[in-house]
Amino acid sequence: MAESFEIILSELGALEGAFKSESDEVKGPQALEEIRIKYLGRKGSVAQYFKKMGSVSTADKPKLGNTLNKLKDEFQTEIDRIQVSLQTKSEDNGFIDLTLPGTPPQVGYRNPLMLVMDEIKEIFSSMGFSTETGPLVETEFYNFEALNVPADHPSRDLQDTFYLENDLLLRTHTSPVQIRTMQKQKPPVRIIALGRCFRKDTPDASHSPEFHQCEGLVVDKGIAFSHLKGTLLAFARKLFGPNIQVRFRPSFFPFTEPSAEYDFSCIICSGKGCRTCKKTGWLEISGAGMVDPAVFGYVDYDAEIYTGFAWGMGIERIAMMKYGIDDIRHFYENDFRFLKQF
Ligand code: PHE
Repeated sequence: MAESFEIILSELGALEGAFKSESDEVKGPQALEEIRIKYLGRKGSVAQYFKKMGSVSTADKPKLGNTLNKLKDEFQTEIDRIQVSLQTKSEDNGFIDLTLPGTPPQVGYRNPLMLVMDEIKEIFSSMGFSTETGPLVETEFYNFEALNVPADHPSRDLQDTFYLENDLLLRTHTSPVQIRTMQKQKPPVRIIALGRCFRKDTPDASHSPEFHQCEGLVVDKGIAFSHLKGTLLAFARKLFGPNIQVRFRPSFFPFTEPSAEYDFSCIICSGKGCRTCKKTGWLEISGAGMVDPAVFGYVDYDAEIYTGFAWGMGIERIAMMKYGIDDIRHFYENDFRFLKQF
């Protein structure tokens, strides 16, 4: 008489359930081996059912064979899995050493540009300057026109300026903040403005399409070029020490008259001449000058009563001098090994 395949199938379902609950409870390798023998051993449950192959109908034989093989694989996989997990548990012995030092979370570091900008702010604030900000996306009016930069000036060229839609552009210097400040405030003015600027430069060791400037502006009655000199000298000495010298060379900017470029004596060789200053003893910082009366015309300041001076300052250059950094690109790569040195 052939045994009912249906009955065998339901018995196998019960066997599977029993295996699951027993294997879930396993605490050690010994118990696991017992389960393996009980279910998969030569005389184990699965083997017993293989013996029943002879007593089912010819049609059910392959089906039973299939089911049993699947069950065997399933049990084996589960036993292997438990074995691995018992092994990992035994490796740390289930013991957690609370006295071991933990893995410290990585802390972030401030970019040296930020450190330098904070220091510059602090120095100028001690000299009575307040800080202004302006948008990075500017109009042609603030970036050029109100600064007396003529329409055919090379800095307005597509090659130098990132133009956006609708007469907008990425500011090429912090000087537009001069205009924004004078528009909203009557003299006296004594401000600095720090921030990012953009120019179409191909990156190399000393050029970057993104860079930072500090702008300065002072407007009052009786302001003269000597005040500009004194201000920059006092700043340079607070930042780099009492022996720093500042020198001015005649130059031209559309928004200052007279204009100058100014240099700090080389802090590496104290002005004796070295590789950093190309043997000149001086490091170029930026431009400065007396505010051109034409600029006052754009902001309704009376040029008969007021005079002023303004200057720019490249933050990257100052940071490179201060920390001995030889490539401007380091500032923008956010390499942890670089950042954690400051
Ligand atoms: N804006 C000028 C530049 O980016 C620097 C400057 C600022 C010159 C203020 C004079 C006065 O080169």
